[in-house]
Amino acid sequence: MSQQHSAAPAPTSAVEGRPDWWRDAVIYQVYPRSFADGNGDGMGDLEGVRTRLPYLRDLGVDAVWLSPFYASPQADAGYDVSDYRVVDPMFGTLLDADALIRDAHALGLRIIVDLVPNHSSDQYEWFRRALAEGPGSPSRDRYHFRPGKGRNGELPPNDWESIFGGPAWTRVTEPDGTPGEWYLHLFAPEQPDFNWEHPAVGDEFRSILRFWLDMGVDGFRIDVAHGMVKAEGLPDLGDHEQLTLLGNDVMPFFDQDGVHDIYREWRLVLDEYSGDRIFVAEAWTPTVERTANYVRPDELHQAFNFQYLATHWDAEELRTVVNRTLDAMRPVGAPATWVLSNHDVTRHATRFANPAGLGTQIRLAGDREVGLRRARAATLLMLALPGSAYVYQGEELGLPDVVDLPDEVRQDPAYFRGAGQDGFRDGCRVPIPWTRTGPSYGFGDGGSWLPQPADWGGLSVEAQTGEPGSTLELYRAALAVRRERADLGAGDAVEWLRAPEGVLAFRRGEFVCVANTTGESVPMPAYGRVLLASGEITEAAGEAKVPADTTVWWSAS
Ligand code: GLC
Repeated sequence: MSQQHSAAPAPTSAVEGRPDWWRDAVIYQVYPRSFADGNGDGMGDLEGVRTRLPYLRDLGVDAVWLSPFYASPQADAGYDVSDYRVVDPMFGTLLDADALIRDAHALGLRIIVDLVPNHSSDQYEWFRRALAEGPGSPSRDRYHFRPGKGRNGELPPNDWESIFGGPAWTRVTEPDGTPGEWYLHLFAPEQPDFNWEHPAVGDEFRSILRFWLDMGVDGFRIDVAHGMVKAEGLPDLGDHEQLTLLGNDVMPFFDQDGVHDIYREWRLVLDEYSGDRIFVAEAWTPTVERTANYVRPDELHQAFNFQYLATHWDAEELRTVVNRTLDAMRPVGAPATWVLSNHDVTRHATRFANPAGLGTQIRLAGDREVGLRRARAATLLMLALPGSAYVYQGEELGLPDVVDLPDEVRQDPAYFRGAGQDGFRDGCRVPIPWTRTGPSYGFGDGGSWLPQPADWGGLSVEAQTGEPGSTLELYRAALAVRRERADLGAGDAVEWLRAPEGVLAFRRGEFVCVANTTGESVPMPAYGRVLLASGEITEAAGEAKVPADTTVWWSAS
């Protein structure tokens, strides 16, 4: 292990505060490459994040989730980890991580780190050893190595495809120079899948958990949390189109029941630590009911609600997914979560301008004004629902996806492997603008690893701060109301109110939320005092006009 480890300082304690803070927390996702660049090399880093923590505190979020910053060859932007206990030099050092955790805690912010247990980098020591030691060696058992099919083993062991496109298997050249076994990688070839049947894998990850818990983190976001256990015998999918099955059905490599045993063990480790720390699962399951399995009382705390993320801006669809989510979570006693954007999908300010029916990864320019109006309305709706909500960096600025990045700057492996998507994920990963002008709009002094559009300055934190009606001020106001009024995030139910077609209206105690998803303004009763609205509300004689694609919050008291 590198000297960084031995330099690790004493553990920091977690933030004092409300127990169960996570049940209604607003958690902000930082994508470290693209948030703030502290050393001017064009790439965001931990020091950049640390210096911007006051911004996040003032925004009003409760916790920060950081996408991976560990040692990595960056074949998949850090989701290919080559040392789980070391900070990649491009992001800083373990001392920077420690300073970040300490400063966040001092500001009352919690820190959640990403854990990538489904696969390692092909540069991880275990995998390099497995390659070097050859077929039949015990080191190969820590991954899924198999002989190929066909006369000379020239065909992959089964028909699974990589999520990024192409076969999920790569054939290796053995130490003696001959073509040999194949290994499984559900993502890029540089991301071999661990064999979780091997006890050393579990031991290693429990140790990694402890390492970061000792560093003082408040929780983990578990990458591909539905992927670690594969069906016995690695059976073929057969005559199925994998892409159409994904997300709609249980696959032999996703959402296998055995994965829950791992989480029961992890929960015991986490519960040894003080401070109400949490796990959140990135589990793309076919239904919210299956997602609820991950958050049973002795497993994880939260799971992202991707069914909600994938829902169109449509009142009926939204009502259905909200009801189904709340109904699925209630029996297991876990909070619902709500999320609209992250580093893998088209930003919602762009997605909501797409014609309904397009997937979450299709990137069309669309009508920016409509997209932003709907995104603001969707955010206020999300923040009014019971449970916890996730905000992806830059959505508070109303950033659109960058749909016209030139091919030569793209870095997403999904793009290069032609994942069958018209999109690619670089468009939601462009560094965010902090200032109106200046090099990379305040992201850093040394440019930006992906080019920012020319109008980025007008969307910057500086341009929107104090600007009435700006998206940034809307988020600040919404989060302030959420902090003042416990009734927004609390509980596990909403009381639906009668509303015209295309309009959602619900009450939670003395709080009323109305979301008009139609393209027309609609009359609604004025429920009390307007707390906040994503557009201009006009009221007269007890009636309010809620404009097209607008959400309004009322206090009925
Ligand atoms: C998750 C991450 C994504 C990554 C993949 C493989 O889905 O969010 O960015 O490419 O896992 O680790």
